[in-house]
Amino acid sequence: MKSFYCLAIVLVSLLSCVQAQNYTRPNDLEITQAQAEKYNCDRLCQENLQHYEALDRQIFGNVPFDYEFYATGANFTHSRPGDLLKLLQQNESMYDIPPGTSLWLMQYTSVDVGGVAVPATAFIALPYTEAPRDKVRLVAYAHGTIGVVPACAASSSYNGYDYHSWQLLTAPGYGVVATDYAGLGNNYTSHKYGNPVINSEDIYFSVVAARKAFPGVFTTGWASVGHSQGAGAVWGLSENPRINTTESGEYLGGVAVAPSARLNDLLTAVPPTVGYGFGDLIVNIFRALDFPIQPIVLTPAALDRYPLMYKLGLCDDSYAELNADLPNHGIVDSTPAIDQHNHEAYIAFQNKYGAATGRKGYKELLVVQSTDDEVVNVTATEKAYEYACKIGNIVHLSLYSGLDHDSSAAASSPEWLQWLENRFMGVRSPDANQCVVKKVTPLLDTLV
Ligand SMILES: *[C@@H]1O[C@H](CO)[C@@H](O)[C@H](O)[C@H]1NC(C)=O
Ligand SMILES: *[C@@H]1O[C@H](CO)[C@@H](O)[C@H](O)[C@H]1NC(C)=O
Ligand SMILES: *[C@@H]1O[C@H](CO)[C@@H](O)[C@H](O)[C@H]1NC(C)=O
Ligand SMILES: *[C@@H]1O[C@H](CO)[C@@H](O)[C@H](O)[C@H]1NC(C)=O
Ligand SMILES: *[C@@H]1O[C@H](CO)[C@@H](O)[C@H](O)[C@H]1NC(C)=O
Ligand SMILES: *[C@@H]1O[C@H](CO)[C@@H](O)[C@H](O)[C@H]1NC(C)=O
Repeated sequence: MKSFYCLAIVLVSLLSCVQAQNYTRPNDLEITQAQAEKYNCDRLCQENLQHYEALDRQIFGNVPFDYEFYATGANFTHSRPGDLLKLLQQNESMYDIPPGTSLWLMQYTSVDVGGVAVPATAFIALPYTEAPRDKVRLVAYAHGTIGVVPACAASSSYNGYDYHSWQLLTAPGYGVVATDYAGLGNNYTSHKYGNPVINSEDIYFSVVAARKAFPGVFTTGWASVGHSQGAGAVWGLSENPRINTTESGEYLGGVAVAPSARLNDLLTAVPPTVGYGFGDLIVNIFRALDFPIQPIVLTPAALDRYPLMYKLGLCDDSYAELNADLPNHGIVDSTPAIDQHNHEAYIAFQNKYGAATGRKGYKELLVVQSTDDEVVNVTATEKAYEYACKIGNIVHLSLYSGLDHDSSAAASSPEWLQWLENRFMGVRSPDANQCVVKKVTPLLDTLV
């Protein structure tokens, strides 16, 4: 999904793809051999880092990291969740976004573990004009995994971390508010990775704040769309009692594509020995929360390197390959005792911070899942669907085939864009009162 970057960025600077980086981003930091060795990162590890950090760098492109913007706003201290802290229009010609779209960086107050107020950042993409006879219809977009450290802010990417994802919302004229999630961009708190309960707070308050940034611009109704981590967050949002109030307007429903809702089920279907790239992130989920049970995922050698994620601002490509040279990618050999311990940790986390774990859902949720998704396994999503429906929540599950994790959002967009349109038009879905599973047949299979 990122290989087209050079084509796009070539318009900005021919040199950017070949020239050495010039330290305009936290991801550009390098360490000396001596420093690396302190973290048990020897020559091979350093070579890997260089290679994969360069790939990370392509996620962000030629837009410098705006350190001043990401620093905590002066008026954060006495602010309340949903307050606007900063709003900064960007020069669109620096970005690869649909023509006519204006782009804004927003800092706002969100809520962290225990209801504590924290700063968070987001971008807002506004269409050229509003829909005929209507205000701008507002969609909160929640992106998939990008990393867990402040350097990995989607809003600091040359295309808002689009992978044929949020930009699909611009042609139909939606206004998009896309949270970075607290802890990505701003460094006041740690990011709570893969945490539907906490990540849903960031989505919710991004909408409250966007309305303060642009008073009177958006429709009262709003919806959410998320992929992967963001889809877990959208599922969490559908169970967040805040959407049953009018503070954010009227929540119309959400679309969750390949949702990471229930951690234990996800890791049962695709264990870290297979999805090894998530090893450091699984550790991070529990450490960032100071969770009472910490799973045993990485070997001591891999754990020695773990701080490099923060030191070097490693994002999507480089944390995943940080342990590429270690036996088993630095994932511990499982034993029945370790499996049992980890199972307890995953279940405990899932019950407290997961989605589809027995909490009431307030609004309709469309879930899209490919049976061939290599990251979010279909069995985990089917289980989540069953759990949610069993207690009376309304979930519509659409099963696709032949799509991998990253292509699921774009390929299924005809369905979910229509679904969004219907929610905004107030069209009642024929199955509004019941759970439904639908299989979507690829067009090619219907052609002779
Ligand atoms: C990085 O490159 C840009 C564009 O060439 C330049 O304006 C900026 O000063 C450079 N920054 C550093 C730290 O060298
Ligand atoms: C957090 O960000 C601020 C401002 O960008 C910076 O001054 C500070 O050193 C950072 N803190 C940490 C712990 O990295
Ligand atoms: C914080 O300051 C910004 C910029 O001056 C302003 O737009 C915003 O309303 C302020 N927010 C609060 C909560 O005071
Ligand atoms: C936006 O960036 C372009 C290209 O770098 C530049 O020519 C233009 O003057 C900038 N516009 C503003 C308003 O700064
Ligand atoms: C949701 O809000 C409505 C209207 O305020 C209220 O009647 C209802 O009890 C709320 N539902 C829950 C589960 O809190
Ligand atoms: C999903 O999980 C099942 C059970 O672990 C496995 O057999 C199947 O291959 C997985 N599907 C994909 C696409 O990885």
